[in-house]
Amino acid sequence: MSAGASVQFHVPVLARFRREFGEPAVVVRSPGRVNLIGEHTDYNHGFVLPAAVDRGIAMALRPRSDRRYVLHALDLDRRLEGDLGELAPHPERWPNYLLGVLHQLQKAGHPLGGFELVYGGDLPMGAGMSSSAALECGLAFSLNELFGMGLDRLTMAKLSQAAEHSFVGVKCGIMDQMASLLSRKDHVMMLDCQDLSYRFVPFHSPVRIFLCDTQVERALAESGYNQRRSQCEAGVALLRKYAPDVRSLRDVSLELLDAHRLEFEPVTYRRCRYVIEENLRVIAACAALESEDLPAFGRLMNQSHQGLSKEYEVSCPELDVLAEAATVLPGVLGARMMGAGFGGCTINLVEVGQEEAFVDGMAPAFARIGKTPKIHACAPHCGTERWL
Ligand code: GLA
Repeated sequence: MSAGASVQFHVPVLARFRREFGEPAVVVRSPGRVNLIGEHTDYNHGFVLPAAVDRGIAMALRPRSDRRYVLHALDLDRRLEGDLGELAPHPERWPNYLLGVLHQLQKAGHPLGGFELVYGGDLPMGAGMSSSAALECGLAFSLNELFGMGLDRLTMAKLSQAAEHSFVGVKCGIMDQMASLLSRKDHVMMLDCQDLSYRFVPFHSPVRIFLCDTQVERALAESGYNQRRSQCEAGVALLRKYAPDVRSLRDVSLELLDAHRLEFEPVTYRRCRYVIEENLRVIAACAALESEDLPAFGRLMNQSHQGLSKEYEVSCPELDVLAEAATVLPGVLGARMMGAGFGGCTINLVEVGQEEAFVDGMAPAFARIGKTPKIHACAPHCGTERWL
């Protein structure tokens, strides 16, 4: 099992920056996130319950006197240089999260100068912990500090989401960016993705969060993700013929959906039904957390997994095996796949005192999917912050 927070993860980044460029002007910690419940609801203007975690990316930067950028991804051992006046999506994937942010900042008319950047961290890439949002939001936050742009965190979240749409090509919702930038330590964020209002719910109950990593490459994630989004939009378009006030699935009740069931393609019906039910689960889960009814919270997580697997069909055999194996272990309150799906991690709520039993108990399930156990412990932490 990999331990939780390593507050030291900026050390190699700083050391490398000093060796390559000298003293940084800004050093920032940009966290990954977990999502307790509310999956694929954000782009449907629904509810989510995420939290930034004690793992993330450290970024060190220094301004330059010209208009050139230098990006150095320490963990990937990749480096890219270019001119701020000539931004375009790159054939490799990693620079696009960063280039997209530069593009969006300039498009919005913010004064950018050249800079040097080194980044790295302890966030597993491609594990569904939103290393992409950590990168985008970390850069937006760092440049805001470096060039005194005066942007607020909400603006940075929206801009980072737009960067992912335009330069990465994933039509993501806004949950990851909001969680990464705005979270509060020891709390989860109840976020309404319709009007972006949010409140924090304490999360210091006697449970631990463990992520079980399928280590399945999320090959289908992008096309599958964008396709789910269009299926939801198709459902909304159909219902608007009868209920013109409907703007998103957020405005649709199960009754309205069922009244028109026969007009739906069965697959579109299942997608829409899942989203409406998941929104109801988030509201119920939030109430359960506030009244400290963790068993009820866990049951809703399990139901969420069933919906994601059977109705929304974004799970995969490995995620199903890990989620199902966890639910029968002692002290496990709930388990489900987390994030976009098609691979990545399950999220598990485990009672304090049962941590070892959980790790041991998951070993046969990892063996069944042919993988070495990879379990990450993590805890709700604060959003992006400046270290230096
Ligand atoms: C990814 C996206 C988010 C959200 C989740 C699924 O993490 O970036 O916006 O849609 O998938 O809940």
